[in-house]
Amino acid sequence: MKKIAVITSGGDAPGMNAAVRAVVRSALHEGMEVFGSVRGYNGLIHDELIPMSIRSVTDTIHRGGTSLFTARSPEFRTEEGMQKAIDTCKRHGIEGVVVIGGDGSFRGARDLTARGVPCIGVPATIDNDISCTEVTIGYDTATNTVVDMADKLRDTSQSHDRCSVIEVMGRHAGWLTLNAGLAAGATSILVPEVPFDFEKDIVQRMKETAAAGKHHFIIMVAEGIGHVNELAEKIEDATGVETRATVLGHVQRGGNPSARDRVLAARLGHYAVQLLKEGKSNRVVAVKNEQLVDYDITEALDMQKPFDMDMYRMANEISG
Ligand code: F6P
Repeated sequence: MKKIAVITSGGDAPGMNAAVRAVVRSALHEGMEVFGSVRGYNGLIHDELIPMSIRSVTDTIHRGGTSLFTARSPEFRTEEGMQKAIDTCKRHGIEGVVVIGGDGSFRGARDLTARGVPCIGVPATIDNDISCTEVTIGYDTATNTVVDMADKLRDTSQSHDRCSVIEVMGRHAGWLTLNAGLAAGATSILVPEVPFDFEKDIVQRMKETAAAGKHHFIIMVAEGIGHVNELAEKIEDATGVETRATVLGHVQRGGNPSARDRVLAARLGHYAVQLLKEGKSNRVVAVKNEQLVDYDITEALDMQKPFDMDMYRMANEISG
């Protein structure tokens, strides 16, 4: 394999730059030429490709976001868009593509591979909702960001004897909320994967906590549950505790990647290039028992990642 492209696609995640850097430098080390596709699959469709050198990725390892830009590309899902992307690859002699992103991006990678452009997926999303891997690039940094915000909210909640309802990103997945909720010592953690009972899981728990002498509370709520302002009002009505809601929003997607995310990005990016070098395609690289593994993308997309109920129960058990 002599020429490859690298793209970042879908929602950005801290550590994407570190992954691009690893792909570029590993490929150059193998004597390959590398192109960066601008704005995800759109760069392939519209022939916006940047030749990448060792210096193209200098001073990017510590930066959040993605210097290649990213996009969700509806055009790529059309027959015409896909054909244009294939034509661009053919024109430039691109024989392999590393796709850094989430499940939506991997579906694109699977379709592109099926039409003769071998792809390898590298999992990156703050949601950690990619079934085939224990961790995704960006999850650790986002967890730390949420915990940092929650610590600040704890200070002011403690001063005022208040309850702080914090909405954490995760439209369909509660991993970030659970991880950060546990690390921030939340009184209650609400996620889309587990049904909750307002009285038992919030009101009763707050009352028990108050009876034991603590008068400030953090309720960590995944975005997928929604309506945090209404929930805050309901909590105030039911408990008499002054309650404020904070939606953390897109701040969770930015920021310098943690050392852990940079190392993960470097390992996964390097591994993706090794697979292309060995002539493999339609694979997604992943972490299993802290070791790097790879799966067929189609199989990976069909996998299920059961929500960590043990950790969820434990977090509730030690809250208070
Ligand atoms: O990156 C994943 C995610 O942050 C989800 O948790 C969230 O629902 C979604 O992306 C929002 O992304 P955007 O605002 O870019 O559509």
